[in-house]
Amino acid sequence: MTFQQRTHLAGSLRAEHIGQHVIINGWVAVSRDLGGVLFFDMRDRSGKLQCVIQPSEETMLLYEEAKRLRAEYVVSVSGVVRRREKVNPKMATGEVEVLVDAFDVLNESDVPPFEIKEEVTANEDLRLKYRYLDLRRPNLANNLAIRHKITQSIRRYFDERGFLEIETPILMKATPEGARDFLVPSRLHKGKFYALPQSPQIYKQLLMVSGLDRYFQIAKCFRDEDLRADRQPEFTQLDVEMSFTNEEVVQEIMEGSLRQTWSDLGYTLPPFKRLTYKTAMERYGSDKPDLRYGLEITTITELVRGKTEFKVFQDALEKKRGVIGAVVAPKAAEWSRKQLDQLTEHAKIYGAGGLVWMKITESGVESSAKKFLSDEVTSSIAAATGARVGDLILIVSHVNWERAYTILGALRSELAKRLGLLEGRSFEFAPLWVTDMPMFELDEATGEFVPKHHPFTSPNLEDWARASEGLEHIRARAYDIVVNGYELGSGSIRIHDRKLQIEVFDMLKISKEEQQHKFGFLLEAFQYGAPPHGGMALGIDRIAMLCCGTENIRDVIAFPKTTSMQSLMDDAPSTVEPYQLRDLHIEIK
Ligand code: AMO
Repeated sequence: MTFQQRTHLAGSLRAEHIGQHVIINGWVAVSRDLGGVLFFDMRDRSGKLQCVIQPSEETMLLYEEAKRLRAEYVVSVSGVVRRREKVNPKMATGEVEVLVDAFDVLNESDVPPFEIKEEVTANEDLRLKYRYLDLRRPNLANNLAIRHKITQSIRRYFDERGFLEIETPILMKATPEGARDFLVPSRLHKGKFYALPQSPQIYKQLLMVSGLDRYFQIAKCFRDEDLRADRQPEFTQLDVEMSFTNEEVVQEIMEGSLRQTWSDLGYTLPPFKRLTYKTAMERYGSDKPDLRYGLEITTITELVRGKTEFKVFQDALEKKRGVIGAVVAPKAAEWSRKQLDQLTEHAKIYGAGGLVWMKITESGVESSAKKFLSDEVTSSIAAATGARVGDLILIVSHVNWERAYTILGALRSELAKRLGLLEGRSFEFAPLWVTDMPMFELDEATGEFVPKHHPFTSPNLEDWARASEGLEHIRARAYDIVVNGYELGSGSIRIHDRKLQIEVFDMLKISKEEQQHKFGFLLEAFQYGAPPHGGMALGIDRIAMLCCGTENIRDVIAFPKTTSMQSLMDDAPSTVEPYQLRDLHIEIK
């Protein structure tokens, strides 16, 4: 088949092209015959363009032929660009159209299972099954183009600063990052398995032992964990590690990289705020707060202590880690009983026993706990939270510090949603560093302290020296970047001292055998002059989500998995042939 090479992309034509003879190769988006005049839109990855065949003696044949054009036919069109009679402001090419003088149908198409257009009406499962068709939508294709720009920007930035891009294995020994591993059975080594990397963490540390000094990688990572709107089982990290470094240096490099990426995409990233983990929790109820809006939490534990017999507050008041906190919904005093019940149910999802509410009205305070709280107490709560007439105060009480603030944080974001505080603000960015993370967190189920990070994170050494006084006060030398409520990345200064690494493993109750079995090679490497080092990893998918203004991670991945970890298009995971299982010494029971 011969056809002419394109002169332009469909979406690129503008008024300045008027009068030019062009060739466009692409797909028919839609075609309509208005009785004599035939219009069809051509689409390619850059956008859409109106083409028109006007009846005249010379074009009669063309017109007749064009009647067979259907959506998704692949066509090569040539013609002259002219001004449209009626400008379409909704199309980037809306000022112009191509007066067609010839076209070739390069391929036909069955009627697609859904109409391919910007505004999606087909459900996502159907679109995922025919992902290659869904990707024809210029907005999805544009997301992939933005993602491309992000990785190009990252590569340039790190190259210019002396970082080497080094690939690390996909088939490896398990590296713990807190999720379940994807395992790959070995054919040659019966009963043995590779794990897919949850991250290249150990390898990048070993590269520092090797003296490679500054490493980065755009790395695929695999984690078998519950999926959410911002999580996929395989995702991509910008993974970075540096030797002879400290928190300030790593943070400056990583912040600079994001700033560069944002700027390459035409956005400005405002200065990063800094919050300690404790402050982030106490003020926003989250270690990844969205700072685009206020609705800050007020802790009222001490304010009500000794002033009420209210049973709901007593438990929290009696426990060392108990907290009573409040969050104000401005101008929400008239919310109905039903709305308040919904908020209570929402709080319960996050572990609240219930919710106390107070409405500040012209005629005084109405409250679900009116009977138990004196006027003095309610007015002091109102004063402390800064609530005004017309506002609603929601109060949460819990025996566990972290849980109390997490519930308040969940309410805070639910209120922001209900109050419409974020509407139209996807491209406003509020970045921050969260620092001074605790090394351990309390597992509410077992009452034991468990590590909050991977076990290679260095503790704050002063805190570590006082470990016998309690684990909860030990801070890790770890830091996160958070933007608009997303944890974009996390990193730390690592342990490079074999003795300290063993102490930490011991503290995490990892047995000596397990230490040897899982991390023996790392401990051994630390015997041969490991330099001080540290680094960080950013989620590229999440960066792309922010830069594309979407809350759905699947919108920025060419071939994503569903929340039940399936690929609907190729039907993975799928069964395999019996001989393959035999080769792998595996029997399905
Ligand atoms: P962490 O586990 O915090 O750190 O991961 C770093 C960043 O990767 C992204 N991310 C994900 N994105 C999409 N889907 C997922 N399932 C997913 N899991 C993580 C997030 C997260 O902030 N080795 C350490 C980094 C280090 O210490 O250098 C690590 O992997 O944006």
